[in-house]
Amino acid sequence: MYVCVCKAVTDHQIVHAIDQGACTRREVMRCTGAGGVCGKCAQSLKSLLDERAVRQDCLQPA
Ligand code: FES
Repeated sequence: MYVCVCKAVTDHQIVHAIDQGACTRREVMRCTGAGGVCGKCAQSLKSLLDERAVRQDCLQPA
């Protein structure tokens, strides 16, 4: 499913970036490009970060 329509970034790409160590929205944006245009995907990015951070001990604020 596309999380960021502007940059055509899927949830799988976001999760992969998080699993590779991206701990903040800024880092996810740098890795995938998601969130850098209209910002409508920001809440979805935060939700994915919150969900994955619990599993990874990656608890920096998103
Ligand atoms: S939907 Fe992600 S920046 Fe527009």
